[in-house]
Amino acid sequence: MESNLKNGTVKFFNGKKIPLEMHKVKMVQAINLVPIERRLKALEEAGYNSHLMQTRDIFMDMLTDSGTNAMSDNQVAATFQADEAYAGSESFIKLQKSILEVFGKKLLLPVHQGRAGEHILAKTFVKAGSLIPMNYHFLTFNAHVGLCGGSTINLINPEGPKFTSTYPFKGNMDIHQLEECIIKTGPENIPFIRMEASTNFLGGQPFSMENLKQVRKLADKYRLMIVLDASLVGENIYFIKKRESGYENKTLSSILIEMSDLCEIIYFSARKVSSSRGGMICTNSTELYDKMKNFVPLYEGFLTYGGMSIRDIESMAVGLKETIDENVISQTPQFVEYVVDELVKLGIPVITPGGALGFHVNAMEILDHVPQNQYPGQALAAAFYIASGNRAMESGTMMYDRDEKGVETIQDHEIMRVAVPRRVFTLSQMEYCIDRLNWVYHNRKLVGGLHFVEEPPLFRFFTGKLAPVSDWPQKLAAKYKEDFGNSI
Ligand code: F0G
Repeated sequence: MESNLKNGTVKFFNGKKIPLEMHKVKMVQAINLVPIERRLKALEEAGYNSHLMQTRDIFMDMLTDSGTNAMSDNQVAATFQADEAYAGSESFIKLQKSILEVFGKKLLLPVHQGRAGEHILAKTFVKAGSLIPMNYHFLTFNAHVGLCGGSTINLINPEGPKFTSTYPFKGNMDIHQLEECIIKTGPENIPFIRMEASTNFLGGQPFSMENLKQVRKLADKYRLMIVLDASLVGENIYFIKKRESGYENKTLSSILIEMSDLCEIIYFSARKVSSSRGGMICTNSTELYDKMKNFVPLYEGFLTYGGMSIRDIESMAVGLKETIDENVISQTPQFVEYVVDELVKLGIPVITPGGALGFHVNAMEILDHVPQNQYPGQALAAAFYIASGNRAMESGTMMYDRDEKGVETIQDHEIMRVAVPRRVFTLSQMEYCIDRLNWVYHNRKLVGGLHFVEEPPLFRFFTGKLAPVSDWPQKLAAKYKEDFGNSI
């Protein structure tokens, strides 16, 4: 169906700014709001690690938008047309057409998810001593570059790391720093420049087209290529349309093609961008394609499925086109904006302006009595779970492993990231979220820190176990009982 939402919002007569769902609920899945006693126990069983919790104990799962966005009826219908062939599947041809239409790229390498694309990019282009300048990093990308002997550098503009700002493009690359970096490092040691469209770890903040054009200019000057991480590109192009002058009357489709034309290679997590599963690398350069392609059968699967199920290829082909439909892509940013506005009214520190993916709460400020080596972001996520049954995740010191000497790598931010997967939750559920977060905020002094009891050296935030430094969770739960009585 054609998008009829041309400017991103529907105005209300009462003047309120309310995100309106541009879809109806057709199938539902029950979720559990378990009693607070069970919530305490569930946290303990999961070692206070959001990633180790079971969904049977979770009410609103706001851990991530990865693989959790709602699929459309057309996407589900497409999965029934999957042509299950090892090689030469008809479904792959549909995907080729979709990638060409959406990104304008002819050559594609399917992979099982985004990080598999990062693996192949790193294997192909990174060697010992390579440096990748980026607007902002992503964890798995950095890890793959590191495994190949290279390193990365964030060259974000000065507004980017600020918690509160009115700057519309906090994801912009700092152009002066980029040129300095290229000169200092030597272009021969820079395999490519990486731009992340809607910077995940920076609060889902977008970059502007103008910024990408400036990066392109430098890339041309020093004969470098640009690799675009398009995992959250839908929201980035939506923000360009909403916030960048000259783009208000352009279609999302033309904005994405313009962006894509500025980059040699695009890769993405289809778990995010197309509300499906899988991942992709695509390009128009036969030379680049040939360099990368042999890694696909080696690490992923044959060239026409790349480790994905063919059903996922079908839903990706449809989902990509829906990503450039304003009715679809406006949903998460509008929900995030709504929540951010409400939290600001309540005085709860949150990253502004609202971005893609979810809302990001400043745990360092809310729990200023919890030292950073006691992981305020995860402590806040634990408190939020106790109060709501909702799962969020940490983005801060806990997410980064200790250095070779065993010393904590203290980060400059401690965030609780609360993902808002596309078209999954209703506004009343978001109100519940705001309400319970407000309660935690009022009771923040009761919240204490966490420490590791099992700490793996790699990706501790995925699999490590923690415990509270005191009996603060019980005290918080007791206060909850006092305030909410019989309400679960
Ligand atoms: N790039 C970005 C910007 C991402 O956000 C992710 C995943 C990846 C690459 C890797 O893709 O998961 O398909 O292997 N982000 C998820 C998240 C994990 O929760 O934000 P993947």
